[in-house]
Amino acid sequence: MARINDNYTKLPGSYLFSDIAKRVTAFTAANPDRSIIRLGIGDVTRPLAPTVIEALHTAVDEQAVAATFRGYGPELGYDFLRQKIVDVHYGRLGVKIATDEIFVSDGAKSDTGNIGDIFAADSVVAVCDPVYPVYVDTNAMSGRAGNYQSSGHWDRVHYLNCSQENGFVPEIPGPGDPVPELIYLCFPNNPTGATISAIDLKEWVDYARRHGSVIFYDAAYEAFITEDLPHSIFEIEGARECAIEFCSFSKTAGFTGIRLGFTVIPKELKINGVVLNSLWNRRQSTKFNGASYLTQRAGEAIYSEQGQREIRETIAYYQNNATIIREGLLAMGWSVFGGKNAPYIWLKTPQNLSSWDFFDLLLNKAGVVGTPGSGFGPAGEGYFRLTAFGSTDNTNMAIERIRTLF
Ligand code: MLT
Repeated sequence: MARINDNYTKLPGSYLFSDIAKRVTAFTAANPDRSIIRLGIGDVTRPLAPTVIEALHTAVDEQAVAATFRGYGPELGYDFLRQKIVDVHYGRLGVKIATDEIFVSDGAKSDTGNIGDIFAADSVVAVCDPVYPVYVDTNAMSGRAGNYQSSGHWDRVHYLNCSQENGFVPEIPGPGDPVPELIYLCFPNNPTGATISAIDLKEWVDYARRHGSVIFYDAAYEAFITEDLPHSIFEIEGARECAIEFCSFSKTAGFTGIRLGFTVIPKELKINGVVLNSLWNRRQSTKFNGASYLTQRAGEAIYSEQGQREIRETIAYYQNNATIIREGLLAMGWSVFGGKNAPYIWLKTPQNLSSWDFFDLLLNKAGVVGTPGSGFGPAGEGYFRLTAFGSTDNTNMAIERIRTLF
């Protein structure tokens, strides 16, 4: 008889954002006349940049003619896009990356979820708490996380506490602590909106190099940085020997529906002489047939001068929403974090409400959807996340409704 991967049966409930979507659908079915403002999942609402639309039209027309038609593309990405990533994305940071260190994909979620494939099944993993659930759930699926505990933690995962006290930036494990082999870091952070300084990031890089650990650095929100902070871990000396970086077009250019991202694995990154770039290349060319030609042409378009101008305007629009939320809640005397260099605003729930109680209250009484902090891990209990990706009208209205409610 066939047997299932038992690790799936250990996963608690459904994926966080599916769970929220189900609750909201049930609420709207029961209350069809209520207007709902969705500031839950970080999904963008502004249309694609005109330059991107034009590139998509051109690429579609090419597919209509035998002479320019493209079938399977290179699994790891077309050179026209990889070269632009090297020249523009990393060039502006003064970071040197080779085109064959870039793996174009359908997004950072898939890559952060799949990267574990090339590491030992019993590797010791460290994640922040609170954490983007994909990092934990995918390790649970592969059996690396062990068993789920009533505390909300997995028994084989090493959790790095992120709290108000440490500014939501994890501390380096101390001398007696277990040494994680794989360390997930995300800055600007999802869900807390916290950022990491170059000095603190350098400490993590030094730690990883000392112990032979690998850092998985999720830079999906780097475009929202407004202050003098690292956009890429490869701005930090030594990172090429210990880090893999994940980048996304979703929040940078509104590609949540189109799907496009890339992962960078420097060739210096080796374990016992094995080059991880080659392993990931083998994995991707076997399991992935590449992001679509249309999507990659759309991605290339954001790197033109006009494309850069257009995506910056949209990012500024969301940054303004973040300010509206942040300042609106601060004016109510609430404890509010993030939202300065990040599209996420992390708030302490008022009146000591639990994260889910606050979620229900906001949905039922204000028609505003957010994400309960406890969905990101036990350390998120008593916190709540709002995103800046709505329309400005809805963002203003949401804050007004919250103000009226409290
Ligand atoms: C989020 O809301 O945390 C993100 O949008 C989810 C994602 O990027 O997959």
